[in-house]
Amino acid sequence: MRYSGKTVMITGGAQGIGEAAARGFVQEGAAAVIADLDIDRATALAADLGRAIAVEVDVRDRDAIDACVAAADAAFGGVDILINCAALHNFTYGQPTLKLDIAKWRDMLDVNVVGIVNAVAAAQPSMQRRGGGVVVNLASINAYIGLSAYGVSKLAVRGLTSAMAGELAPDNIRVVGIAPGMVDSESVMAELPQHHRDALINQMQLIKRQGRREDIVNAFLFFCSDQASFITGETIIIGGGYPALP
Ligand SMILES: NC(=O)c1ccc[n+]([C@@H]2O[C@H](COP(=O)([O-])OP(=O)(O)OC[C@H]3O[C@@H](n4cnc5c(N)ncnc54)[C@H](O)[C@@H]3O)[C@@H](O)[C@H]2O)c1
Repeated sequence: MRYSGKTVMITGGAQGIGEAAARGFVQEGAAAVIADLDIDRATALAADLGRAIAVEVDVRDRDAIDACVAAADAAFGGVDILINCAALHNFTYGQPTLKLDIAKWRDMLDVNVVGIVNAVAAAQPSMQRRGGGVVVNLASINAYIGLSAYGVSKLAVRGLTSAMAGELAPDNIRVVGIAPGMVDSESVMAELPQHHRDALINQMQLIKRQGRREDIVNAFLFFCSDQASFITGETIIIGGGYPALP
């Protein structure tokens, strides 16, 4: 039980990679705080996990995030690990930068970038009281290839990861970015046509299988552990070798 006595707070934790992360950390002994807009799913997940609470949070709302951290402090004594999964997606926002409607640009940056600033700022005092912690920011393979509007938001997440690593190192808080390739969250499976998924796997990835949520969670479990205590400020691509091929 690598995470006994630790608390992990996950924005966008009600489904997809965030849900898998909650399950993975609780299995390893942690308590989980599921912070999501979708309070019904978050509540059902917390009930299923047992050592978990659900809090309705819009990451754009600093007061809501502060209340979530206060709930984590009250229930479990503080936050040790923050995983920032909440985001608006490539399906709608992966458009050419000059084509995406300006109102949509603002919404996307507010959730994907400012949402992380809100969550980290809210969790920092709790982590400080616990003597340190780890922040994991979800970037994307789209921050490295054929930049779209969504890709630019994820490039900003890579930038945030570097900047915050420097700002939080004095508090013994490490900040790591994970950039997934295509992973089998329900939303991706529902939105990406099969032929598109097959083409990515067979023509672009070096490892010819569908990426799984567990592939990402295994990375979280390593990067949040003391085994990774010399790693901060980096963003790591987990995409089966994509885009290593030309
Ligand atoms: N799944 C992939 O293939 C993939 C690839 C690259 C990057 N990512 C990144 O990984 C992260 C998780 O992706 P996923 O596929 O698991 O997503 P998902 O769609 O399965 O889950 C996203 C969750 O975020 C919540 N959410 C959305 N806006 C929110 C807000 N304003 N405040 C609070 N919660 C909010 C949703 O309710 C949902 O529960 C995202 O940052 C995504 O950009 C995913």
